[in-house]
Amino acid sequence: TTESTRELLLSRIRDVADYPKPGVMFKDITPLLADPVAFTALTDSLAELCLRHGATKIVGLEARGFILAAPVAIRAGLGFVPVRKAGKLPGATLSQAYELEYGTAEIEIHAEDLSADDRIMVIDDVLATGGTAGASLELIRRAGAQVAGVAVLMELGFLAGRARLEENLRGAPLEAL
Ligand code: PRP
Repeated sequence: TTESTRELLLSRIRDVADYPKPGVMFKDITPLLADPVAFTALTDSLAELCLRHGATKIVGLEARGFILAAPVAIRAGLGFVPVRKAGKLPGATLSQAYELEYGTAEIEIHAEDLSADDRIMVIDDVLATGGTAGASLELIRRAGAQVAGVAVLMELGFLAGRARLEENLRGAPLEAL
């Protein structure tokens, strides 16, 4: 990813103060999605990372991760597998609970969509605390597949998600554009 691409992507992310709660600065990617040049540059950058790390399939994390991961999968010529919030997938699922700031959340995957030969790249818009991405890596390993890495548009460094994710990554790369 070139510096000019990074600048373009950054310029299309809107900071929204006090959303969804007072004191939170929300990173809104909708201006980026609405700009076909920026959205294409993001898709191409993420697809290149997936191929560079030897991915054979893409996992996207509900909901904003889906918007990015699906075109990346097409661009890279790879399959797409959704990780959904609990209760949304109709087939045989694996579930993983994880800690939130207050309480817990649970995500699920269709295990049959992954095989032992697969190397999975997880794609999402934002790495915040790392809880969601970490739980998705557990799901991938429990489904019997290998982890190629995690790729996100943005990493919120002050939340230390990278450190939390370290034990789940087990040496796999975390890429943040
Ligand atoms: C956001 C974001 C990531 C996750 C990051 O999703 O899209 O998936 O939170 O947070 P973490 O690193 O602290 O786990 P959100 O749960 O808001 O869902 P949405 O995409 O459906 O709005």
